[in-house]
Amino acid sequence: MKAAVLYEYNQPLVIEEIELEDPKAGEVHVNIAAAGVCRSDYHFMKGEARIALPTVLGHEGSAIVKRVGEGVTSVKPGDHVILSFVPGCGRCHFCLIGRSNLCDAHAATGPYMYDGTTRLYKGEQRISHMGKVACFAEEAVVPEAGCVPVSSDFPMDVAALIGCSATTGIGAAILTAAVEAGSTVAVVGCGGVGLNVLQGARLANAGRIIAVDINEGKLEFAMKFGATHAVNASDEDAVARVMEITGGLGADYTFEVFGSARTVETAYAMARKGGTVTVVGIAPMGEEASINAVSLTRNEKVLKGSYYGSARPPVEFPRLVEMYRSGKIDLDGLITRRYRLEQINEAYDDLDRGDVGRGVITFQ
Ligand SMILES: NC(=O)c1ccc[n+]([C@@H]2O[C@H](COP(=O)([O-])OP(=O)(O)OC[C@H]3O[C@@H](n4cnc5c(N)ncnc54)[C@H](O)[C@@H]3O)[C@@H](O)[C@H]2O)c1
Ligand SMILES: [Zn+2]
Ligand SMILES: [Zn+2]
Repeated sequence: MKAAVLYEYNQPLVIEEIELEDPKAGEVHVNIAAAGVCRSDYHFMKGEARIALPTVLGHEGSAIVKRVGEGVTSVKPGDHVILSFVPGCGRCHFCLIGRSNLCDAHAATGPYMYDGTTRLYKGEQRISHMGKVACFAEEAVVPEAGCVPVSSDFPMDVAALIGCSATTGIGAAILTAAVEAGSTVAVVGCGGVGLNVLQGARLANAGRIIAVDINEGKLEFAMKFGATHAVNASDEDAVARVMEITGGLGADYTFEVFGSARTVETAYAMARKGGTVTVVGIAPMGEEASINAVSLTRNEKVLKGSYYGSARPPVEFPRLVEMYRSGKIDLDGLITRRYRLEQINEAYDDLDRGDVGRGVITFQ
């Protein structure tokens, strides 16, 4: 099957034929339908985050089940599924307390299957699977828990977005931060994930919703996803501007959705006393944000991380499907460009250049 393989950091992905082994017990072989172009993959391409190389990236995907391994009961061939990049093991402490996005067994095995091995090979060479998904390929083998069924009439490109950006962004607003109606929200970084934080804030009936980005096109786009104010951090002091918009108080909830220590500090500075700062972006390895320690105490700020929108995919994916169907969230409008797998490097050049919305690789 054809896949996009990352052999070395800072080198283009290589589109080539590789081998996919049969699913083992508890695993599912799928044909990928669509895969979203998320910055998390880009962090690996740039070496800002590390992964076992070579690897097949892609963690925002939808697929159709081709065949199932021994003991798989929740899906069958022909089923449409949304792939989860944290397929909870169901047994570790975090799965048991209902926080499967923090699953320990998944973290321990990383980009390999739960038995520590891979199903992807190029000749003798082992290739790892990002997030146990690896959807920048025509096919994949994934754990059963990584397959969340979706009705066959549901659009597969939209389904892919539910696999990461929609769940991560809307979950960050609704589940992690639990934005209150009428409150003021500021979102730093309005790409595929940040736009979903904006629409999550809109869903929560936030009052003022301030979009902050360095790209004017992104800010115009953000106004369609719930922003009431736009701040261009490349030509004004974003913290001062948010203070001004909020009458000197700062925002009740701020979100960092780019991935750098500097933007974490910005999101922290924009929060009001007692405000909640939620960090969604994945900063380059080793970067440390500097927070004035006593300001946490004296200003009672709350600093939180949000991984996968604090979601439990089998619970939240169907909820997002229903919110999309009833018109409460816009996912069609997020998709601004479609690509073939062969164009994946171009898709990441577009992401890097800051083209608006979400790119999606389609396979069917
Ligand atoms: N926590 C999670 O579970 C999770 C899941 C998915 C993605 N992520 C991370 O979220 C981040 C965003 O992902 P994405 O796919 O939306 O990326 P993206 O590239 O689509 O969007 C990033 C946005 O940040 C803006 N930006 C850059 N520098 C900025 C600055 N100094 N101030 C304000 N805005 C700035 C860019 O113009 C762009 O609009 C990445 O770090 C990604 O890895 C985290
Ligand atoms: Zn993602
Ligand atoms: Zn677990």
